[in-house]
Amino acid sequence: MEASSNGLEKAPGVLQQASVRTPVPGPLSARLLERQVLNESNVRTYPRGLPIAIGRGAGSYLEDLDGNVFIDFLTGAGALPLGHTHPELVEAITRQLSRLTHGLDFPTEIRDEFISAQISMLPERMRSSMRIEFCGPSGADAVDAALKLCKTATGRSEIVTFQGAFHGCSHAAMTITGLVAAKERVAGRVPGVHFFPYPYPLRCALGGGEESGQRCLEYLERSLRDPLGGIPRPAAVIVEMVQGEGGVIPAPGDFVRGLRRVTRELEIPLIVDEVQTGGGRTGTWFAFEQHGIEPDVIVASKAIGGMGMPVAVVLHDERLDAFAPGAHTGTFRGNQLAFAAGVASARIIRRDGILEHAREQGAYALGVLEGFARDHEIVREARGSGLMLGFELVDPVTGEPNTQAASAVQRGAIERGLIVELGGRGDCVVRLLPPLNVSRETLDEGFEILDSVLAEIPLAVAHEAQLR
Ligand SMILES: Cc1ncc(COP(=O)(O)O)c(C=O)c1O
Repeated sequence: MEASSNGLEKAPGVLQQASVRTPVPGPLSARLLERQVLNESNVRTYPRGLPIAIGRGAGSYLEDLDGNVFIDFLTGAGALPLGHTHPELVEAITRQLSRLTHGLDFPTEIRDEFISAQISMLPERMRSSMRIEFCGPSGADAVDAALKLCKTATGRSEIVTFQGAFHGCSHAAMTITGLVAAKERVAGRVPGVHFFPYPYPLRCALGGGEESGQRCLEYLERSLRDPLGGIPRPAAVIVEMVQGEGGVIPAPGDFVRGLRRVTRELEIPLIVDEVQTGGGRTGTWFAFEQHGIEPDVIVASKAIGGMGMPVAVVLHDERLDAFAPGAHTGTFRGNQLAFAAGVASARIIRRDGILEHAREQGAYALGVLEGFARDHEIVREARGSGLMLGFELVDPVTGEPNTQAASAVQRGAIERGLIVELGGRGDCVVRLLPPLNVSRETLDEGFEILDSVLAEIPLAVAHEAQLR
């Protein structure tokens, strides 16, 4: 497996080690960043904390326009499961490029292969009963489609979602997302949405600790069963197996299994949003598999496009197949390049044992991050599942989220050659999404950078919440 999955990192002449030779941003990056500020909307996000202009990428590495090389532990927000420009994916896309690129929802051979690949990745018991729906090529559109489908199939209107959730930025997906600040400036959200606490041992609304999952489940079950509970039977419950943007918070197994039991008993479709966790990120193709449950609806995007190619799907039980023809259409439901990349990447993932590799490297990486939590007093908790990882920065005295320290870590890391993303309450969680085929050496190279950055966080920053 080493040769093919990590071949790109090891091959001569490609990017294989972090090296930062200029201030960040370097002069060429700075020029494009300035042009971006002039020309693009204020809504742009990533280059604010990670101020580079990208030249090229290979495997786990990115090179900016100034020739600085960074380890990329953001990898297209999870859309690059095999890293940048994997040669076999480039070849698959190139082959498809001269044949057909766009096919609406007409059948094509590569679309059919993509469908078979996706279905074959489901747990065996689900394969014969699931239908696949292609949506516009974003996770948010697939989330919207899933909500509409469940409303259509049940004739009900309420949706249950969770605090801390992230489901996207379309109007409905934003409404069922936890992020309050983003909503406050948008009037008139989708009605009938109810937020419940999500298990979060460090800061759960119902009290922290290991009981958090059980308490959240009991509260939800009681509320849904209570004739005075205030919520008519919902059209769907939507949940992430690991809240990603919410701060890399894995849902405990007892909570997930309990949620499946309750929703089944009350005949409420359970939607699992696997936009970020799906396609192998957590070490199984879908994260729900680890809890032995079968959701009614699965939403997937990001990694299933193989190489950042745009595609999104809703996989749902055939009993929910309630849309009339054209009830959820979109021009971009047939990107043939995404199908080609998705087919090739699913094949490579299977062939090279990448899921097993992700589980092994993920367990190793979590161990290293737990070491950070022991060694650095501002790191309160390391969390993760497979190669979806994070650690939370706090004021060591108050335990409050430490936004300033997280931002200093992100900044210090990029200056030393490592790209990481932030998330969670007050963006206090440093998030890592390395490619699933990342090598141990690259992981270690990244962790060394993080360790040295953490060691140098000034005391004044570490205690920011106290000093404020
Ligand atoms: C769990 C989850 N759902 C939905 C989305 C939205 O996907 P997109 O950005 O493709 O609309 C995301 C994006 O990060 C996500 O993490």
